[in-house]
Amino acid sequence: MKFSNLILSILIPLVFTCRPVSQKETSNRLGFIAENAMVVSAHPIASQIGIETMKNGGNAIDAAVAVHFALAVVYPAAGNIGGGGFLIYRTNGDAYYSLDYREKAPALAHRNMYLDDSGAVIPESSRFGHSAAGVPGSVDGMWSVHKKFGTRPWQELLQPSIDLARDGYVLTENEADHLNRIRESLKEYNTILPEFLIRESWKAGDSIHYLDLAKTLERISRYGRSGFYKGETAKLIVEEMKRGNGLISLEDLRNYSSVWRAPITFNYRNYTITSMGPPSSGGVAIGQLFSTIAHFPLKKWGINDIKTIHAIVESEKLAYADRAKYLGDPDFVKIPVHELLDKGYNRARAHSINLKSATVSDRIQAGQFYSEPEETTHFSIVDQFGNAVSSTTTLNGGFGNRVVVGGAGFFLNNEMDDFSAKPGAPNMYGLTGGEANAIEPKKRMLSSMTPTIVEKNGHLFMVVGTPGGSTIITSVFQTILNVIEFDLNMQGAVDFPRFHHQWKPDIIQSEAGRFDSTMVKELEGLGHKLSTRSAIGRVDAILVLDNNKLEGGADPRGDDAAAGF
Ligand code: GLY
Repeated sequence: MKFSNLILSILIPLVFTCRPVSQKETSNRLGFIAENAMVVSAHPIASQIGIETMKNGGNAIDAAVAVHFALAVVYPAAGNIGGGGFLIYRTNGDAYYSLDYREKAPALAHRNMYLDDSGAVIPESSRFGHSAAGVPGSVDGMWSVHKKFGTRPWQELLQPSIDLARDGYVLTENEADHLNRIRESLKEYNTILPEFLIRESWKAGDSIHYLDLAKTLERISRYGRSGFYKGETAKLIVEEMKRGNGLISLEDLRNYSSVWRAPITFNYRNYTITSMGPPSSGGVAIGQLFSTIAHFPLKKWGINDIKTIHAIVESEKLAYADRAKYLGDPDFVKIPVHELLDKGYNRARAHSINLKSATVSDRIQAGQFYSEPEETTHFSIVDQFGNAVSSTTTLNGGFGNRVVVGGAGFFLNNEMDDFSAKPGAPNMYGLTGGEANAIEPKKRMLSSMTPTIVEKNGHLFMVVGTPGGSTIITSVFQTILNVIEFDLNMQGAVDFPRFHHQWKPDIIQSEAGRFDSTMVKELEGLGHKLSTRSAIGRVDAILVLDNNKLEGGADPRGDDAAAGF
């Protein structure tokens, strides 16, 4: 792709769900405050359901299960039962657990499945339609965390979502807009038209009902994981696959299992940061970023100093270069996690940064950015007992592969696009990869999801995460820095405009308003190329204040909301 075309494609708004931040929202606002417990999620109804769960005596895991299923109804662009994700849990006794409920490639998947006879990537083949779907992990994930840590009955946690799907709920402007935008692709990729989703024009205030989804959720409520991976729901998924030439089989569904993995933990000054390990790149990448940036006096320089921006950008380039080469599914490839997080290694990387000029990211590859939404969703929870959950879940692109499982009422993911279809070929986030993330049967595709929990001096300090595809890592990194280096409130840190560099393409993407014209000139003077774009991420976070109250940071870029008591 020519560089000029690349710039143009980046300038096209990437995320149709997000609106830009306004001036008012960059003024270090204080967020919603609660005394005991809080949920911050992408939708006010989901946040409220989480709070009611905890008021009924449930803990953060009970709330997480209830919120996850609620988002599958009220935020179908990313909330899901047909996708997957990652969850970090910190108990009030300071023990950490991390669950990988990421999708897996079907057993019939193979390395060259998205290439044509000449070896070229077939455009969009890994992004839309039945063969873009990985084997979903969300229901098994929620079942696993509930079995290990839940205290309220499973059925009680599912019931609010069943009610919502059956009785309907009122669309916000964003949601109406989402549905209007996907109308044509719903017609194109579905074998049975999901008529309940298709209208000439949806508008804010319209009610929507998901009757088939209500029945699917009832089966999950009654039979647990078997209500999804076996029986009627599994049969409907496999029939859908057969009608649309997809690969997921009954055996794939039966064999799916989420995995408890060791989280990634590292220290930054007097903070201990815990995040998700492979097959997410999130924990390793922010570990490298903090380890590199520790060599620069950001606090002294300040949030808007060009040296601060430059050092962050150069650190991001280094981390994403390693991501492309080394990271993948640890069940398939050996990942040098210790080496990548090694302080000496990152010190040397930090010393390689030239504060007087930008390092050219090798050669700019044919990175492509599409006007497709980079949808994922994150929620943060702290309960009245002091436990915390940070969970990020996704269908990958907005509404996944755009296929609603006939008779079952839910969208399937297009997570197969997170594999490297071919070494060096960019995926929909412009990310490239190699052998470590090549497609193999039953392998998990590399993720950027970064659900994270931060401790300060051994006490719970922050719960944070975001959607945003490749920008997830840099948004989480910058949000934490905004609080711990630049002293912003949680809400102020979430509001603050973001920027992103992912090594290739060699460009700083930024939200409008992040850099004024002087800063742009100075960054260009250092050799950086810049482009503005629509909103980056939707961070939902909770900060524990000095008085032990909780401050929510709900991202104004979407309908996100904090609730608490
Ligand atoms: N699907 C986006 C990610 O996992 O990074």
